[in-house]
Amino acid sequence: MPSVVVFGATGFVGAPYTRALKQAYPDWYITAYVRSSKPEAELKVTLKADHIIVGDFSDSEKIKKISRENDIVVNAGNSFTGDPVTSIIAGQKENTGATKGKLIHISGGGNFIDFGTSGNFNTDSKVWNDAKEDDIKAIHKDMFNGQSDVPVLEAGDFIDTYIVCPSVVYGGASVSATTMGIGYTLLTSNAKSLGYVPYVGDGTAVLSTCHVLDLVDFLVSITGRAAEGPADGTAYSRYYMLETSKVQWKDLASELAKAMHARGFFPSTEPNNVAFEQAGKGEVKHLVAANMLVQGDRAAAMGFQPKQPSLLNQIHDDLKVVPM
Ligand SMILES: NC(=O)c1ccc[n+]([C@@H]2O[C@H](COP(=O)([O-])OP(=O)(O)OC[C@H]3O[C@@H](n4cnc5c(N)ncnc54)[C@H](OP(=O)(O)O)[C@@H]3O)[C@@H](O)[C@H]2O)c1
Repeated sequence: MPSVVVFGATGFVGAPYTRALKQAYPDWYITAYVRSSKPEAELKVTLKADHIIVGDFSDSEKIKKISRENDIVVNAGNSFTGDPVTSIIAGQKENTGATKGKLIHISGGGNFIDFGTSGNFNTDSKVWNDAKEDDIKAIHKDMFNGQSDVPVLEAGDFIDTYIVCPSVVYGGASVSATTMGIGYTLLTSNAKSLGYVPYVGDGTAVLSTCHVLDLVDFLVSITGRAAEGPADGTAYSRYYMLETSKVQWKDLASELAKAMHARGFFPSTEPNNVAFEQAGKGEVKHLVAANMLVQGDRAAAMGFQPKQPSLLNQIHDDLKVVPM
């Protein structure tokens, strides 16, 4: 039976994934790497993990050792920088088990925005397709998740790598999440810092979204695939773009404004139609005004079948109680 270690196991994605993995494979030995100060016994019960290791992503030697000692490593913790994935790779390269090291890394659809500034749908924008290896080879370090994706793709010469790339992840109410996850946090903190929920132009620009249950199902299935034996093809053929549905920014902004109004953040239930420069600080305004066009043909061929409702149906339940 394989041993699996999950980094970011207490997270919005990591927690339901860790539980679902144990449910699917009760005999596997699952370790959760966490920075929580909660008692170990409580964490084992909450995450259904066999073993808890407490540490930070900056503990590179510790991460390398844990990675080396496990058959499969899952990075559900961070994709914006090289931590902890470069230490994980270093450990998996030294894995002396019967099979090659195996890494499942969660990336993000932010890589694939078109950097449009109009807020309008653009029929000429590139549609990134996970079945086209040239699209995956075009991923570079300056993309939102490039600092982690590039080393993982390059490590594919030495270990079996799988990159699962959801877009904005929602659906926390379906898994009783106590946090919002990175996607919602980006959107709500941007609105809070502006004092309103923005959209740009006619708001027809589209954002790709993925329900956490669709993501977790696929992650469990790809972990099962990794455990079966050596991977086929190159690392560039094991990148999976997951999308439950696309939403238009104006629709998203309208529902987000209502949800944040209900939580007492804004007096108005309406979003603000603003110029690109007023849509957010730093990189976030690019997300708000741009299109994110992805097509997961390879994920579909691997069995990804979105079953869950749209973010527009879920957002009110998702944001009802979580700390904001
Ligand atoms: N949520 C989304 O919309 C979305 C979309 C696309 C891609 N992704 C990617 O999916 C992955 C998981 O995202 P998420 O939304 O689940 O994030 P999250 O809820 O913030 O979870 C991150 C996890 O990593 C842990 N962590 C963070 N910094 C750490 C550190 N320095 N040392 C040790 N542990 C640390 C957190 O521990 P604590 O519980 O102690 O904070 C938590 O368990 C990320 O790589 C993200 O980029 C997310």
